[in-house]
Amino acid sequence: MADGCTFERTAQDGKARLGRITTPRGEIRTPAFMPVGTAATVKAMLPESVRATGADILLGNTYHLMLRPGAERIHNLGGLHRFMNWDRPILTDSGGFQVMSLAELRKLTETGVTFRSHIDGSKHELTPESSMEIQRLLGSDIVMAFDECPALPADRDRIAESMRLSMRWADRSREAFGDRPGHMLFGIQQGGLEQDFREESAEALRGIGFDGYAVGGLAVGEGQEAMFATLDFAPDMLPEDKPRYLMGVGKPDDIVGAVKRGIDMMDCVLPSRSGRTGQAWTRRGQVNIKNARHADDPRPLDESCSCPACSGYSRAYLHHVFRSGEMISGMLLTWHNLHYFQELMGEMRAAIAAGQFEAFEARFHAARAEGDI
Ligand code: GUN
Ligand code: ZN
Repeated sequence: MADGCTFERTAQDGKARLGRITTPRGEIRTPAFMPVGTAATVKAMLPESVRATGADILLGNTYHLMLRPGAERIHNLGGLHRFMNWDRPILTDSGGFQVMSLAELRKLTETGVTFRSHIDGSKHELTPESSMEIQRLLGSDIVMAFDECPALPADRDRIAESMRLSMRWADRSREAFGDRPGHMLFGIQQGGLEQDFREESAEALRGIGFDGYAVGGLAVGEGQEAMFATLDFAPDMLPEDKPRYLMGVGKPDDIVGAVKRGIDMMDCVLPSRSGRTGQAWTRRGQVNIKNARHADDPRPLDESCSCPACSGYSRAYLHHVFRSGEMISGMLLTWHNLHYFQELMGEMRAAIAAGQFEAFEARFHAARAEGDI
């Protein structure tokens, strides 16, 4: 375990865990939702506003930042925290996953992956070693091992081959990361929906030894039922005394289902991205603010929400600024969505502490079933 960082579990209810990760840059209450700040910004939000929604940690991306503005440049400007004016913990993804979904002319070898930038077509290489170096230059608090994963469905041979390559890369990531007090390195389990490959991957990662363990390769088109079926066994294969992070998830009901199955951390672009396309998430379901039915509605988006969008503005106003393409539209809806996601995490943490997770889950699903928002 990296000196200067700890993970404590303070309560458990069923498989749902309550805890805290302590780093030199602050504490992360778990279960935690990490807003995505891909390009050194959570789009449409000031960092202090992101903090006001209740976020303890943000996610940044190796892939985007290495291409623009460059990791060296960020390092020379004092690191990512200083650069983006967020002094709390930052987790950075390692790049391989984004290369496979965003970059052009990708070539995968044992060494790593070469690709052309989706921004300007320039040629780049990422390896476990260069990913660790970039994440060090950024000053990331939680560094992710370098991995790759196939889009699902994929055949078993392809899944096994990819998982084994990622496990060799995990070993090289651990070696290249070295010993960095105050910083954590997380391994990433792969293996698709296959229980035997998930076990093989977990065994490889446990053998290497990480400060935390991610479940990767999910939410890549398999659907919620298949994802939950995998989460029924995959987290149990990872060390109990280390944080478990489900990458790229998800919708509120995915998040609740993941926490129920023993996940401690999650990230997703959903609340921020959908805030910019007029989609609001509430305890009673989704609201599409562009819908004409909101044009004369004086009520707030969600009466029970205390965020700035719901305290100060009507649905009619939110509808108007969205239709008019005003920037405040994305700002208000993103704030609301992030506030709702963080409130949901807080409710789950309180429910686990009280041994009431099942009752929480029943309330969560009942509120959504009521509908009529
Ligand atoms: N984001 C969502 N899924 C994954 C994954 O499997 N690996 C990495 N590195 N990032 C992800
Ligand atoms: Zn709100």
